[in-house]
Amino acid sequence: MKFKKLVAVLSTVMLIGAMTVGCAKPAETTAPAASTEEAAPAPAAEAEAKPEEAPKNEKLVVGFAQIGQESGWRDAETWSILNTAEEIGVDLKFSDGQQKQENQIKAIRTFIQQEVDVIGVAPVVETGWETVFKEAKDAGIPIVLVDRRAAVPEDLYAGFIGSDFILEGQSAAKEMATLLGNKGNIVELQGTVGASAATDRMTGFTDELKNYPDMKILASQTGDFTRAKGKEVMEAFLKAYPGEINGVYAHNDDMALGAIEAIKDAGLKPGTDIKVVSIDGVKGIFEAMAAGEANVTVECNPLLGPQFFKAAQDLKDGKTIEKWIKSDEGIFRQETAKDDLPNRKY
Ligand code: AHR
Repeated sequence: MKFKKLVAVLSTVMLIGAMTVGCAKPAETTAPAASTEEAAPAPAAEAEAKPEEAPKNEKLVVGFAQIGQESGWRDAETWSILNTAEEIGVDLKFSDGQQKQENQIKAIRTFIQQEVDVIGVAPVVETGWETVFKEAKDAGIPIVLVDRRAAVPEDLYAGFIGSDFILEGQSAAKEMATLLGNKGNIVELQGTVGASAATDRMTGFTDELKNYPDMKILASQTGDFTRAKGKEVMEAFLKAYPGEINGVYAHNDDMALGAIEAIKDAGLKPGTDIKVVSIDGVKGIFEAMAAGEANVTVECNPLLGPQFFKAAQDLKDGKTIEKWIKSDEGIFRQETAKDDLPNRKY
């Protein structure tokens, strides 16, 4: 299914059917035949079959508690999960948490009642998961963390699939140092407060900056990983520090794109007067780099569907999975953006 079409379908279904967890997947991604019907034996066979010989439902049944739709990156991750499930015929129960941890927790509880084989969750924030993860463990259902971490003891989840957010922050700082000639003032647009992606990207960046005594962060504020808030916060920074800002570091591309709008509205040239470094690698930032309005993006791969369902199948088969399945990622700069753009998948 085409990416834009699927996101449009999803937006409609998720908003209308918020928290109808597991009842309905978007029509176009529904896997063939409900598992209960498939498992029912044909009448003749039923008469002969002893209980222990009854056909077993071998189809992988997975619950996925997504965060929401805050960014282009998140849409790409959702697409990857839904599309892979459709391709390989998984019975997927998908929930959009609409940015709220309580919705994600409710979804996980519903998945437990539905006795899914494996639960995937992208935790909106890091803390507050212990109780519900313990409930899943007690029910014998493994939890796989997808893209963001949760601060829980290691025995409460089977594995984490995703990026090294600290390394991403460090790489962003090194790139900013090169752009600014190791000297200058930076403003930071942070992700959602309490999210591992925000905490670690801040830690990585500030730690690396210690190697550059002439570079400093003038101000940091959350833009909640959205373009609209990124723009709003950047407008406030530009008013508070007129003529002082040399670079903006955004924890994701969507906020950087919002910041670029704010910089232009202020009569300045993004990418030249104020350098722009961000994380994700979405098409929009490549277009901005190709136009000279952004400088660097540190890639964070959202296409985790294949790795996630492989891990889920392994867990269903009784295998253990690696505690951290890392994504392969690169760093992309303005100089090659035009050539890179046609190859971008999200
Ligand atoms: O957890 C990954 C982050 O969440 C991405 O960088 C951001 O765009 C998303 O919303």
